[in-house]
Amino acid sequence: MSSSAPSSDVPPPNAPFTLTFLPDNRSVECAEAALLTDLAAAGEINIDQPYGGHGRCAKCRVRFIEGAPPPTPEDQRQLSPSMLTEGWRLACQCRIAAPAVIEIPPSERAPDAKSFGPPDLFAGQAVEPVVRIVPFSLTPSSLQSQYSALDALDKALPSDSCNALITNDLDVNSERLSASVAVLESLSPTLEKLKGQGEAAVMGNRLLAVAARVPRYGLAYDIGTTTVAGALVDLVSGKVRAALSKLNPQVRFGADVIARIHHAMKKPGGGAQLRQAVCRVVCELAERLRTQAGIGTREIIAATFCGNSAMTHFLVGADATGLGASPYVGTFTRELECSAAELQLPIHPEAGLWIFPQLRSHVGGDAMAAALAAGMDRAARPVMLIDLGTNAEIVLGCRDWMLATSTAAGPAFEGHNISHGMRAAVGAVDRVSAGPGGKLLTRVIGGNVKAHGICGSGLIDAVVALLQTGVIETNGRMLPPTEYAADRWPRMAPRLSVTPEGRRMVELVAAERSEGGRAVTLNDLDIRALQLVKGSTRAGMELLLREAGLSVAELDGIYLAGAFGNFLRKTSVLGIGLIPRMDLEKVHFLGNAAGIGARMALVDQAARRRAVDIAGRCRYIELATHPDYTDTFAEAMAFPEPGDLDTD
Ligand code: FES
Repeated sequence: MSSSAPSSDVPPPNAPFTLTFLPDNRSVECAEAALLTDLAAAGEINIDQPYGGHGRCAKCRVRFIEGAPPPTPEDQRQLSPSMLTEGWRLACQCRIAAPAVIEIPPSERAPDAKSFGPPDLFAGQAVEPVVRIVPFSLTPSSLQSQYSALDALDKALPSDSCNALITNDLDVNSERLSASVAVLESLSPTLEKLKGQGEAAVMGNRLLAVAARVPRYGLAYDIGTTTVAGALVDLVSGKVRAALSKLNPQVRFGADVIARIHHAMKKPGGGAQLRQAVCRVVCELAERLRTQAGIGTREIIAATFCGNSAMTHFLVGADATGLGASPYVGTFTRELECSAAELQLPIHPEAGLWIFPQLRSHVGGDAMAAALAAGMDRAARPVMLIDLGTNAEIVLGCRDWMLATSTAAGPAFEGHNISHGMRAAVGAVDRVSAGPGGKLLTRVIGGNVKAHGICGSGLIDAVVALLQTGVIETNGRMLPPTEYAADRWPRMAPRLSVTPEGRRMVELVAAERSEGGRAVTLNDLDIRALQLVKGSTRAGMELLLREAGLSVAELDGIYLAGAFGNFLRKTSVLGIGLIPRMDLEKVHFLGNAAGIGARMALVDQAARRRAVDIAGRCRYIELATHPDYTDTFAEAMAFPEPGDLDTD
């Protein structure tokens, strides 16, 4: 420990002191000893606690640069002596009563912005604007005529600007332009000030704003269980002006939706906590996106949201407890329109918000948005979409029919139940391959940095490499060193060990090249966790195909979507058997398809109708009660026979 190394001096309790979180350099004032995770939350610093903070997963580790408290028994159990010396502690167990400087490791920092699709997403397409920005010119006579200001404006707008039947008869139909009380309050003075010349922003038949230049931006949100992503979009060009992502602060209430629904059910005020957490991050992203783009709050006039069913329920404050137990029915599934005020979103108060419809409890608006982005409703021949995240949602179909299901994939792909798992962030091993003699090659995100853990794409790669070098058998069994063919794979053999607890383990990155001197490893339970995810996802695919009477060869394509989709290698996805053997040309990675769908629905009214149509005609297949599920799942757990060592 150097002179600047962490100390364990604890000042008297109740003394006011400051905690500083790095690298954000954000400070929190504390008056008494408290749990570090609570103090971090107060400072809007998110620390992941995937299993509710019981001190057993070591996912919440942070490093004290100054003022480290004495290690707790859980610290001593989970962290190596060198890590303790360097100031690492488990945040969920850490009660502090001293000034401290704490570094949040890369795995807990803000994730990279998710993509909301290419700049030319709408190129060559006929778009039916959700918000019409219509120039108008009122003559002095129309301003002084028998018409009210609203009627005069209604007459001046082209008829397709508000889907209105405009007639000279003022008392006729309900399709005429309407406006809120707030818009009406300022309409006459605004028109007068503009001398009858300006722009109107109209959504449907609702007048949102009148000005010399009306607001023309919108927000598209993808509310994921792990990450909330938002994009600021120009509603006229459809282009993304800024995009940001942030960890969903609900992770401190549980890694997956079931844990969070249980939190809402069991903890008094738990539902409100979950709503506040997601609304806070949605508002924060709105503020940061508009600041980044240099525009004001009132320039954002629309927003769309997609998310799984639980996230959608939490967002609007609807009771989600029904989603947690059979028959898994929530409060609503339809698309929802609401005002910015209802979500307290800091944008134009007249802005129209639109929330994607859900299909069923486990196939939410994010899957509907992804199916929209994949153009499944327009496909002439059947295609399959697999949206891999905390859950796996699978949609199979074409323009004539659609089936969907979901599998309890678990968050293995996001690193949650893998011993050294982490998100795809700086410090994550994201690529692994095996070479001659079992030489293991790894790549770490960030280049010349120490490895901190392994992300989903690295995990899939690693399993393929371990299959190729005989460390894992096709049934998922990891061999102990005593059974390993060390003569055939001499460079792999020294990496194998058995822990004192009896866990079979393989070292991916040596301690000296890893953060805190803690080697990045995989053990037999990690392999089993991946096998369960892969098995349930593959079983879902097989049963949907069977239900449709199709073979894999009859598919026109498989679309893989999800946060980490773009990092995956097709050969590895095939190598672990996540998808069946097929022509790799037919496998496509869509990236953040749900976010792309949210962007489409923000700009294009027709996209909204398509999403509603997809949700309306998609037939849900329940896997848990399917008579063939158990057998199919058991078969799907097996890994394929390994191919040759890859060289790409
Ligand atoms: S050890 Fe703290 S959240 Fe698991």
